[in-house]
Amino acid sequence: MQIILGITGGIAAYKSAELARLLANQGHRVRCILTEAGARFITPLTLTSLTGEPCFGANPDQGEWRANPSIEHIELARWADLVAVVPATANILGKTANGLATDLLSTVLLATRAPVLWAPAMNTGMWEHPAVQANIARLRAFGHAVVEPGEGTLACGEEGSGKLAEVVAIAEAIQMHGTPKLRSLRGRRVLITSGPTREDLDPVRTLTNRSTGAMGIELARAFRDVGAQVQLVLGGDLPAPWGVETLRVRSAQQMLEACEARWADSDGLVAAAAVADQRPEALAPEKVKKGDGPETLVLVRTPDILARLSAARRADQWVLGFAAESEKHLEQAAAKLVKKGLDAVLVNDVQDGRAFGAQANTLTPVTAQGPHPPLGPLAKDQLARAVVQWWAHRLEARESGR
Ligand SMILES: Cc1cc2nc3c(=O)[nH]c(=O)nc-3n(C[C@H](O)[C@H](O)[C@H](O)COP(=O)(O)O)c2cc1C
Repeated sequence: MQIILGITGGIAAYKSAELARLLANQGHRVRCILTEAGARFITPLTLTSLTGEPCFGANPDQGEWRANPSIEHIELARWADLVAVVPATANILGKTANGLATDLLSTVLLATRAPVLWAPAMNTGMWEHPAVQANIARLRAFGHAVVEPGEGTLACGEEGSGKLAEVVAIAEAIQMHGTPKLRSLRGRRVLITSGPTREDLDPVRTLTNRSTGAMGIELARAFRDVGAQVQLVLGGDLPAPWGVETLRVRSAQQMLEACEARWADSDGLVAAAAVADQRPEALAPEKVKKGDGPETLVLVRTPDILARLSAARRADQWVLGFAAESEKHLEQAAAKLVKKGLDAVLVNDVQDGRAFGAQANTLTPVTAQGPHPPLGPLAKDQLARAVVQWWAHRLEARESGR
């Protein structure tokens, strides 16, 4: 994505350097525009060095406007896939809400047709002022996105709202608002399961597996970014993704109950969790001590979540399953597809520990038509986007009767 990062005159401007670096590391092209007040807090040299792109706007060497035959503000407005203002002062919010263009950044903000995202930061009194709130409401009515400031101790010493949102959350919001929406998934409710389940033996021991939940979390992000309303039922310890309603569960039974409560309201299911097939027959209330006799663990079957949800589905709902197989993975995926009545199984070959937590991964979609060309090898975030694109195309083809 090509991102214009506007930086205005607030203390939080130092955090925009970290954001610029994070976005550049994620593979985006980032061009910064500093206001005159912003340039008092952070320098073009820092931003240019971090992004590898020129920095525009207030510049002690060149002033606000550079002599440039290409008309800089229009060129930048057209170049951007998204314009983000981080941090956004009360001043820039007020100017843009009222159509004022007094410097390069405010002019680009009026000229651009790209999505605009604001991350305001200011003193609590300023943030709560009716004029600022009215400007925010106006910008939202223009279709702009606002990443609300959080609460905390502000640089001015006050406690309250007005603190710049976390840089990682702003980066996620930029990814989401800058991603083109897909017709077949926009506004659709997608239920995603992810992560390992944990089946407790006693208060200190548990049976689990090597899944981390990383793939399901990336799928949740990728569905979110193309416009789906995602509900994630998540096992394991990884942090929940921003902007996704997440319910944390521990055991297979808890995962089943969470999914059953949400399934009727969903348009589709993506079952990426690595659910335990067995659990200990009994949960010991106290820690089990070493004994003299043979150590035997009696296991019983856990509910088959995917089969249960698939059996309860309506004709308008779709179901994607995942499989991790260490041998004959395509045959096993085809068998799972039929046995559980799925629309597709995305299978990965987990021989030699591949796929679990590892960075690059390959998934092969298997449908009633047979195996499709493999997606990958790709890093999990890119692989998740490839899965979403693949599935959206199939949904579109299905909707248009092709
Ligand atoms: C030390 C200092 C910190 C400031 N912090 C903020 C801030 O966090 N948020 C804000 O809206 N204004 C803040 N201001 C006021 C803005 O810098 C001022 O309104 C300026 O005109 C904004 O210009 P700009 O929007 O073009 O960057 C601060 C001013 C100073 C001197």
